[in-house]
Amino acid sequence: MNALFGEDILTAEQFDKKTVDLVMKIARKMQKIVEKKGSSDLLKGKLMTALFYEPSSRTYASFISAMQRLGGGIIPIQGVQFSSVTKGETLADTVRTFESYSDVVVLRHPEVGSAKIAADSMVKPLINAGDGVGEHPTQALLDFFTIQNNFSKIDGLHVTMVGDLLNGRTIHSLSKLLSLYPKIHYNFISPDILRLPDSLKKMIQKKGVSLFEGDRLEEVLPTTDVLYVTRVQKERFSDLDTYEKLKHHYVITPTLLRDLKKKSIIMHPLPRVGEISPEVDTDKRALYISEQMKNGMYVRMALLALVLKKDI
Ligand code: NCD
Repeated sequence: MNALFGEDILTAEQFDKKTVDLVMKIARKMQKIVEKKGSSDLLKGKLMTALFYEPSSRTYASFISAMQRLGGGIIPIQGVQFSSVTKGETLADTVRTFESYSDVVVLRHPEVGSAKIAADSMVKPLINAGDGVGEHPTQALLDFFTIQNNFSKIDGLHVTMVGDLLNGRTIHSLSKLLSLYPKIHYNFISPDILRLPDSLKKMIQKKGVSLFEGDRLEEVLPTTDVLYVTRVQKERFSDLDTYEKLKHHYVITPTLLRDLKKKSIIMHPLPRVGEISPEVDTDKRALYISEQMKNGMYVRMALLALVLKKDI
């Protein structure tokens, strides 16, 4: 039986190296299926609910295409305003409803910890597709897949994460996941008030990973292998003046990238709102359009297959 069968996927912390390797192996298989045949009937007869309380393009659509490419069906709930949630129903009751009709629930919700609360009230597997400023574990796995496809090994890489490190859940999950490899080095680059949460920093340090925190991207660019850019998360600011001041604190331009090594890669979970200029898109090192989005579908196909199929 595979280690993820019947399991919830709530946090990057639940993964050990072996399970990450398994997800990567199955994701590579899924890539082959899509490239050769477009689809398979591996999950025929299974249903996935996609229950999204927050806006989403990529995560939502890639989960839906993942399920459909594996022959499964979907219950797509993107506008929760049309569900009983507006009548005051609790999250626990809502997810229990959808698990009565489907085999797995994929949840995106604005509150930290909501995925755990939902999972605890269900019997069937729940996949966290983003819980507020908490985590986004499936994004971390697709980011890992992208990094692994571009380097011969993870150990020794210098990973620079830049932008809103306080509120960016993709950063939270990816930095936890990559910390399984203590020989990597992190540069966390952000304005002072958007630093990585202290608890997360401590967790990373405890694993023996070396890290540098600062405000100036220029200082670390020449030694960077992976440049991971994020947007300032407008929806998490109570004071929009502060957001306006910070939103373009970093803008990645071709000029700035002259200092980045030829073999480095540039990633972004998307959406971007001005922090990478469009001229960067044709840079061979930029993978956010050419690789990351497709990888999201392969990795989510792998996760759905692993959670729903004992032997795969
Ligand atoms: C991210 C998210 O929702 O956390 N988007 C995504 O899932 N690809 C990043 C973001 O919104 O900034």
